This record gives sequence, structure tokens and C-alpha cells, in this order.
Amino acid sequence: MGYKHQHNYGHTLPELIQWVTYTHLLSKIPSYLKGDQLRLVLLKRLLHKIGERSTISSGCKIYYPQGISLGNNVMVTENVTLNGKGTIEIGDDSMIGFESILLTSTYNFARKDVLIREQGKSQAPIKIGSNVWVGTRVTILPGVEIGEGAIIGANAVVTQNVAPYTIVGGVPAKYIKDR
Ligand SMILES: CC(C)(COP(=O)(O)OP(=O)(O)OC[C@H]1O[C@@H](n2cnc3c(N)ncnc32)[C@H](O)[C@@H]1OP(=O)(O)O)[C@@H](O)C(=O)NCCC(=O)NCCS
Repeated sequence: MGYKHQHNYGHTLPELIQWVTYTHLLSKIPSYLKGDQLRLVLLKRLLHKIGERSTISSGCKIYYPQGISLGNNVMVTENVTLNGKGTIEIGDDSMIGFESILLTSTYNFARKDVLIREQGKSQAPIKIGSNVWVGTRVTILPGVEIGEGAIIGANAVVTQNVAPYTIVGGVPAKYIKDR
């Protein structure tokens, strides 16, 4: 392959061991077998921040963990994908539904004379306020901010900021109503 992979699992052997242990062992242990508590042991070292009583359920895929900050009492449910390359912040008491995907890195495509895969990527942060409920199978694109108390309906693709205490849904996500 002519392109470079960018690694995100750290540079020292201990960091590599922690990363492999998390992705290939801990992330697969179901919550009913104390997986949430076991994962916390390494998540406290791998993530930028994880607050009190926050959990990441089994099957979640985490890229660039050092860019991810979770507040207190955050619930990331099964099979969520978090890419922290452009940084992700999730506020206190928020919930991320099953199989949702939070993307903070995306391909550049401005030039037509160069392959998209060779134009590099850009990053932008995702910021989710406190007490937000993200429904199942939601995709959140880079640069999106979701205000406190908002709800994202199932299967939405969130391309723009979401105002506090509003409910949005659809592809792309549009305002449905206030709470
Ligand atoms: C968004 C949501 C919270 C709204 O619930 P609600 O207040 O009971 O809303 P309603 O069923 O009255 O629907 C209101 C309008 O929003 C639309 N709507 C509801 N959910 C929608 C969704 N996910 N995407 C797009 N539109 C949606 C309805 O079609 C309706 O439109 P209309 O007024 O034109 O008929 C709910 O539909 C939803 O998606 N919940 C997420 C469930 C989930 O993911 N559970 C797993 C938890 S991890």
C-alpha cells in the first residue's frame, strides 16, 4: 500500500499493551459479567477524561482515546463507535444509543485531479452537552455541537449544531419540536 497508516495506540510498549488489552479483551466482556467495571480500569488511563459513574458498554470501538472526554454519569451503550481524533466531549448524564457513530475526522475531497484517499483528512471536534439523549444508530459528523437537554431521534445523521432542549431527527437531522 502506498499510503501511511496513522497509529493511535500510543508509542511505548506499555501503551501498546494497554491498547491491545482494551480492544481485544476488555471491550468484548458483557456488562452482566462486570465488563463495565473492568473496562474502567483501563479507560481511566486511555481516555483524556472519564468522570464518576460513567460507563462504556461492550462492543464499542474507540479510536484516538486520548481525544475523548466524558463527564460524570455518561452512558455509552453497546457497539458505539467513538473516533477521538478531532476530540469528543460528552457532558454529564448524557446517553449515547446503541450502534451510534461519532466521527471527528473526514476525508478532504476538494481536488478532482487527486484521489480522495490521497487528499488527507480534516478533523473537527464534537461537543455534546449535559443530559443529552442520542437515540440508536445515530451518526454525528465532525464539528457538531449538541446543546444541553437535546434529543436525537433514532437513525438521524446530525450534520449541524442542535439547539438545547430541542428534538431533532432524520437524514440530515432537522428540528422536530421543543421538549
Ligand atoms: C425522537 C423521539 C424521541 C420522538 O419521540 P416522540 O416525542 O414520542 O415523537 P412522536 O412519535 O410524537 O413524533 C413526532 C414527529 O417526529 C417524527 N419522528 C419521530 N421519531 C423520528 C425519528 N427518529 N426520525 C425522524 N423523525 C422522527 C414523527 O414522525 C413525527 O412527525 P409528524 O409530526 O410529521 O408526524 C423518538 O421518536 C425516537 O427516535 N426515540 C429514540 C428511540 C431509541 O433510539 N431508543 C434506543 C435507546 S438507546
